[in-house]
Formats: sequence, C-alpha cells, structure tokens
Amino acid sequence: MPNDKDQPGTPPTARREFLKSAGLFTVTAAGLAGGLEALTRRPGAGSAEAQGTAFVRPARPLGPYDTKEAVTPWEQATTYNNFYEFGTDKGDPARMAASLKPRPWTVKIDGEVKKPQTVDIDTLQGWFPLEDRIYRMRCVEGWSMVMPWLGFPLASLIRRIEPTSKAKYVQFTALYDPKQFPGQRGNVLDWPYVEGLRLDEALHPLTLLAVGLDGRVLPNQNGAPLRLVVPWKYGFKNIKSIVKITLTEQQPKTTWALAAPDEYGFYANVNPAVPHPRWSQATERRIGELGRRATLPFNGYADQVAGLYKGMDLRKNF
Ligand code: MTE
Repeated sequence: MPNDKDQPGTPPTARREFLKSAGLFTVTAAGLAGGLEALTRRPGAGSAEAQGTAFVRPARPLGPYDTKEAVTPWEQATTYNNFYEFGTDKGDPARMAASLKPRPWTVKIDGEVKKPQTVDIDTLQGWFPLEDRIYRMRCVEGWSMVMPWLGFPLASLIRRIEPTSKAKYVQFTALYDPKQFPGQRGNVLDWPYVEGLRLDEALHPLTLLAVGLDGRVLPNQNGAPLRLVVPWKYGFKNIKSIVKITLTEQQPKTTWALAAPDEYGFYANVNPAVPHPRWSQATERRIGELGRRATLPFNGYADQVAGLYKGMDLRKNF
C-alpha cells in the first residue's frame, strides 16, 4: 500500500484510538447458524439502515479456530478500513458505504469446475451452516485487528462445485461498478480488484468466506455481501465484495502484485523475517492498543499452515 501512515512513529493516532476504545470492549463472539441468514432475508437487509442491526445471541465457548485475544471493538473495525473502491483514506469506506447495494447480488462460479453456475448470495449462504471464527488480521501496512467473522469454509463451496482435475488455483473478482464505487472513477488501482489462492490454500479449513461480522450482516465497508478471509496472509488477500470465483489451471493475477510487483507477491504470507521494501514487518500496531507488538510467522497460524509451504523459499515467494 502506498500509505505509510501506520509505520512506527505515529503515537498520537494510536493514543486517540486507545482512548476511543477504552471501556468499550465486550466479547460478543457468539452466533447461531441461521441467525444471519434470517436477518439477511429480511426486506431491506444489507441496506444502510439494516447495517449493524444487532441481535441477541447466547454466549458460545471458543472453538478450535478462535484466537483468545481481545476482539477489536466494532466501532474501530468498521471505521478504519482499506477498501480502495470507496477511496484511499481509512475513513472513506465507512463514509461512502451507503452507495454499495449488496442485495440483490449474484456470484458467478466458473472455470475448471464441473458445476459452473451463477447463484444468488442468499441461496449461496443458505447452502452451508454459518460459523463464527475469531481471527487475527494483519495488514501489510503494519497494523492489525482481531475480527469476529461469521461465514463458511471456502472448502465447502469448492467441494460442492466440484473442481476438475485441471484446477490448481482459485481466482476471486470483486464488483466493478463505478456508480456504486466512487473510487473506481479513478485509476488508483486496476479495476476490478482481483485476488487468488492456490487450491490447497483455498481448501484449508481456516480459509473462510465471510458474510457477517460479530453476528451481524457484513457492513458494506468490510466487504458486503461476500468477502474472503485468509488469516495467515496479509489483509490485502482478503478480497471484498466478491462477484466471481473462477478455478484456474494457471496462477491468477492479483491486484497488488500487478500494481507493485516488487512490494507485493502472490503468496503474501505474514512473515516478520521478510521486510517490505519500504518498512520492517517485524512488529505491528494492534488497533486499540498503545505501542507495538511482535508480528508472528504466518500471523500466529504456523502450526496449521506452515506445511503448505514445505520446501518453498518464502523470501522469493513473498
Ligand atoms: N478488497 C477490495 N475489493 N478492495 C480493497 O481495496 N483492501 C484489502 C482487503 N480487501 C481491499 C480489499 C486490504 S489492503 C485490507 S488490509 C483488507 O481488505 C481490510 O479489511 P477491513 O477493512 O475489513 O479491515
């Protein structure tokens, strides 16, 4: 990202955020499969008015995929965002979010699959039980959050659409519509935003397609109505507002690697040992905290995912 504002040496912002968040924290990670579905099927759901509509849920015990770390307060997770389709400032997505209409919405599934199809988002999310997952998210810019996603494993969708034997990668394409996305009226990135994963990464049980945040409909600024979450990779892999999922034989192009190939790679695994050309990746600023904390290899998910990269030079495949 061209934005270095989050590099070390910005204590006033950190302090302000800490003060904002102090006393606000509650763990509300619980969710019920079907609850969100019911919510999103309401007329007008996903609209600006429906965004952030809370519903009461019983507490649930943390699951095997959840981090125990403190969840980033909703206020911060939904107002400090990267979503260049709305603008390049962290506050632009929340300010401009109402221009995106996440219903009706379809997702096209094509490429190397036995069951290509175009499916309505409510039908798609109704295929799978929704799961809560509290994941760390580490942005390549050097800040991080803890996000309580609601979604389903991408693996469940891939198995349902049946990859052909040629499928080696998955490409994701975000919506292109300059009427809904003011940022697309300029050329700050090549539109639409595209991302990709190797098929084994896509099938990993940690890899999620999120439709909600903290038990609520995914706010537009966080990537409504469908957004990828791959917690061991830098945040830019987590493409928002997906309209197409394509299984491919060749490694797909990805937006940030196209924009600055020396700075952003296809893999983008969180790696404190490999600095970004313009800053260190050894530490991060957790939004809502003072100071910086150490960044962990694979963002703390090494036990689960390091095996995917056995024998690979992660300095070259950054
Ligand atoms: N997806 C799209 N379509 N457009 C974007 O600009 N930004 C990425 C990613 N997904 C981006 C995107 C980056 S750089 C980050 S760090 C995360 O979204 C931020 O997610 P958040 O705003 O929900 O924290």
